[in-house]
Amino acid sequence: MLGLLILLLCFLFLLYMAAPQVRKMLAFGVCTSTVQLPGKVAIVTGANTGIGKETAKELARRGARVYLACRDVQKGEAVAREIQAVTGNQQVLVRKLDLADTKCIRAFAKDFLEEEKHLHILINNAGVMMCPYSKTADGFEMHIGVNHLGHFLLTHLLLEKLKESAPSRIINVSSSGHLLGRIQFHNLQGEKFYHSGLAYCHSKLANVLFTRELARRLQGSGVTAYSVHPGTVHSQLTRHSALMKCMWWLFSYFIKTPQQGAQTSLHCALAEGLEALNGNHFSDCQVTWVSGQARNETIARRLWDVSCDLLGLPVD
Ligand SMILES: *[C@@H]1O[C@H](CO)[C@@H](O)[C@H](O)[C@H]1NC(C)=O
Ligand SMILES: *[C@@H]1O[C@H](CO)[C@@H](O)[C@H](O)[C@H]1NC(C)=O
Repeated sequence: MLGLLILLLCFLFLLYMAAPQVRKMLAFGVCTSTVQLPGKVAIVTGANTGIGKETAKELARRGARVYLACRDVQKGEAVAREIQAVTGNQQVLVRKLDLADTKCIRAFAKDFLEEEKHLHILINNAGVMMCPYSKTADGFEMHIGVNHLGHFLLTHLLLEKLKESAPSRIINVSSSGHLLGRIQFHNLQGEKFYHSGLAYCHSKLANVLFTRELARRLQGSGVTAYSVHPGTVHSQLTRHSALMKCMWWLFSYFIKTPQQGAQTSLHCALAEGLEALNGNHFSDCQVTWVSGQARNETIARRLWDVSCDLLGLPVD
């Protein structure tokens, strides 16, 4: 018993010593594009913290007009001022967007469409993870409601503008958590069975499926879509789970910073000549493998129709 304990301690010690190397390894994948974005318009959802904030900052640094779409406008304003100060770009704007409320999503889109002539980059970044069972304003289970349906509606409402502004790109921040996800049409809202961790994975699988389905539908339009696994990143995503917080703290040294986590989103938004990879899933700035379910076109189409149905959108 004691031997085992000592062995374990040795292992942990070695792991700790090796941390800088491990960290470097985990952090690889850097957006090397030098593209500048003067005159371009971008929206980043959930931009007031973590990966979203770093993504928005880099887009602003490259000269884009960046909309921070945040639930908490006050926090968003503070972040906008910070980004303006760091980048010298004053065109960083905050708009209210609560993805757990379709009325708010529609209001956001309506105002944006009236205000802006173009939209070149949409980064569907906001997300919830492992929250206790709860519902959105429209009665959807929170994970599928925010991570999937909310962004589905947003993308849908902005799609014409994206097409008019082509070449334009849509980036969906998903996760390798999708590998554990299953789309269970009889339990889409967790009404029969609910586990907060799995609900997160299901919603992330929905993101990957949708990116593929959307990419298929957008072929030839000049709009391309990508889904992204940002890596294991220090962020507020773990706010609902004490266990996750604890794990994150223990392993914090091995975990990407938000700035490193933003690299793959940036790569997909910026890298030249990516159009041929429309619909693919990226990790560490490279195309990566997705689960069998995530490649299943039948499921993707059915989920598309069900989502339209739930949101009261015409099924085409
Ligand atoms: C992103 O994910 C949302 C929700 O799953 C989906 O509705 C939307 O079409 C996706 N967009 C892209 C570009 O994949
Ligand atoms: C896709 O999913 C459906 C329903 O789960 C299944 O019947 C079908 O065999 C799957 N197709 C592929 C190619 O895996």
